[in-house]
Amino acid sequence: MQEYSRCLRRQGKRIGLVPTMGYLHEGHLSLVRRSVRENDKTVVSVFVNPMQFGPREDFKKYPRAFKRDEEMLRRSGVDVLFYPSSKAVYPEPYYTTVNVEYLTEPLCDRSRPGHFRGVTTVVAKLFNITTPDSAYFGRKDAQQAAVIKKMAVDLNMGIKIVTMPIVREKGGLAMSSRNAYLSEEERRDAAVLYEALALAKGMIKKGRRSSGEIKDAMRGLIRKKKTAKIDYIEIVNEDTFKNISRPTGKVLIALAVYIGRTRLIDNIRLKAGYYQ
Ligand code: PAF
Repeated sequence: MQEYSRCLRRQGKRIGLVPTMGYLHEGHLSLVRRSVRENDKTVVSVFVNPMQFGPREDFKKYPRAFKRDEEMLRRSGVDVLFYPSSKAVYPEPYYTTVNVEYLTEPLCDRSRPGHFRGVTTVVAKLFNITTPDSAYFGRKDAQQAAVIKKMAVDLNMGIKIVTMPIVREKGGLAMSSRNAYLSEEERRDAAVLYEALALAKGMIKKGRRSSGEIKDAMRGLIRKKKTAKIDYIEIVNEDTFKNISRPTGKVLIALAVYIGRTRLIDNIRLKAGYYQ
């Protein structure tokens, strides 16, 4: 892969990379389409990265459907499907990791310690192997995208990090490979993540400015669902991920909620102009 990428670069070709863990959905395909539009060659990686899963998380049962993914990518005009083995990515003994400080500390890392270190390590490796000009990430994983952007800048990677809007199902549920775990009842309940975000947005639109009050209202709504258990609800500055007590400026409202045993995340961004 690395030799091929270097060869493309010598020919002056622009390379776009879409890193994924497979079990592709419309969210991934929106990234793929953008990369195909903007680059001469698009590489999609499919690798379920063991380093970003905690010991009690779902690495083993993470949904995998390689043939289906391959077919979807073939139809989307992707040039290269890169699907390395774990052994190739992490040759034994493996000692090196990449860690972004501060931005990784709030939100998801609290309940998934070490998760972002696993993400940045594998993404740095994928960048080194595929040598992209641009790499594409979805905004459902808003913290992940911010952390990767920071890594690319801090380590002078010279790679443009492009982020794309969340793609939602009809009821508002953000598309995610993990939605495959949900039973019918859970899928109905899972719509509450987006409903809670919409409620928060509506309250802010009406002039409510207490993050505490808004989060309480979101909690109240989510707790009505039998299968839902809140991991976190946060209202943070979109750049620093620091909590803010009064939403103003560029704000991210983010939440993680267990629906049954499945942990789902979602968020909305409010731009500075939203409050007028
Ligand atoms: O968002 C994902 O699917 C993964 O975290 C990524 C970026 C492919 C790294 O394994």
